[in-house]
Amino acid sequence: MEEDEIEHTEEENVNEETTEEMNSDFEYKDIKDLPGVGSTIASKIRNAGYQDIIALATANPLVLVEACGIGEPTARKIVAEAREASKMNFMSGLEFEDKRKSVQRISTGSEALNILLGGGVETQSITECYGEYGSGKSQIAFQLSVDVQLPLDKGGLEGHAIWIDTEGTFRPSRIEQLAAVKGLDPKQALQNIKIGRAYSSDHQVLLVDKIPELINADPKIRLIVVDSMMALFRAEYVGRGTLADRQQKVNVVLHNLQRLADRFNVAVYITNQVMARPDVMFGDPTAAVGGHIIGHVATYRIYLRKGKKGSRVGKLVDSPSLPEGEASFEITSNGIMDIDEEKKK
Ligand code: GTP
Ligand code: MG
Repeated sequence: MEEDEIEHTEEENVNEETTEEMNSDFEYKDIKDLPGVGSTIASKIRNAGYQDIIALATANPLVLVEACGIGEPTARKIVAEAREASKMNFMSGLEFEDKRKSVQRISTGSEALNILLGGGVETQSITECYGEYGSGKSQIAFQLSVDVQLPLDKGGLEGHAIWIDTEGTFRPSRIEQLAAVKGLDPKQALQNIKIGRAYSSDHQVLLVDKIPELINADPKIRLIVVDSMMALFRAEYVGRGTLADRQQKVNVVLHNLQRLADRFNVAVYITNQVMARPDVMFGDPTAAVGGHIIGHVATYRIYLRKGKKGSRVGKLVDSPSLPEGEASFEITSNGIMDIDEEKKK
C-alpha cells in the first residue's frame, strides 16, 4: 500500500461543515454566488486556481482578465466583491483569544526541537521545514505522523494524519517502525494515515481541495503533511518564464492550507528543499527559489542543516511570537531524538 490515493467519499457538498465547533462564524459562500459571477465565470475562475472566495480575494485581477476572458473593470469588481465577502473573517480580540486557546501541539520527538517551536508543531498554523536533501525534513514528517496518534500526555493528539506525497518518498515501513517504538500497533498506525500521491502541481492542488471532505469523514485528522510543497511546481515551471503564475498558484494552495488549519484546528507541516547556492556570495546562501512566497504564509519556519557527528540542527527563522534560536537533535532508527549527552563524551 505504498501509494494509496486519497479516498473519495460519498460526500457531495465539500462546503458543508460538520465540525461546527470550529469557526462557526465562517460563512462559505460559493464563488458563483458573487454578484456578476455566473457558473461559467465561476468555473473559469476555479480553473485558474482560485477554489474559493478567500483565495479569490487575494487574486490579481489581471490574472483573471486573461484566465476568464473578461474585462479589467469586471475582474476588479469580482476581486473586490470577494474581498468584501471574506470580511466576515473578522472576530473580536476576545474571540481571537478563545480560538488561540484551542491551539494544541504535536511532539517532533525531540524535546529540544519542541522547545524551539514553543512546545511542538502547532495546530492552526503552517510549519515549514526547509533545508538541503537529507537534512531530515521528511523524517520529521514521519515522526509527526506517528506522534500525532499518541495520547495527549505523550505529546500527541490521539489523532490521524493526511500525507500529500509529491516525490514518492512516503515509506510505510518507516511509519511501522516508529509506531512500534512508541508502543502503537504498526498496522493501525499506518491505517490512521491517508496518503495522497500527487503526480503534478494541478493534482496537488486537487488533493488539497479534497481535504475538507476527508476531515468531515474522519474528524480525528489533526495533521496535514505536504512533502514536499514545491517539488512539482519547481519541476513544471522550470525555465518557462511563468514564475508569477507559479507563485500565484502556490499562494492559493498555501492559503487553502492555512484556512484548513484554522477551520479544523489541525497542524500543517510542509517541507521545502533548498539547495546551497554557490553563486550567492553574500546573504543567505540557501535562499530558496520560491521560498520567500512560503515564508510569508508559514507561521513557523525551521531551517534544517546537518550538524556535527551526524546530528541535525534546526533553526527557527522569522517567527512572530518566538525568539530565534537553534536546536540540535538526531535522526536514529528509532526516530527523531534528543542528542544523547552521554554518547558525546
Ligand atoms: P530530501 O527529501 O531529499 O530533500 O531530504 P529530507 O530533508 O527529506 O531528508 P530525510 O528526512 O529523508 O532524511 C534522510 C536522512 O535521515 C538520512 O540521510 C539518514 O541520515 C536519516 N535516516 C533516515 N532513516 C534512518 C534510520 O532508520 N536510521 C538512522 N540512523 N538514520 C536515518
Ligand atoms: Mg524528503
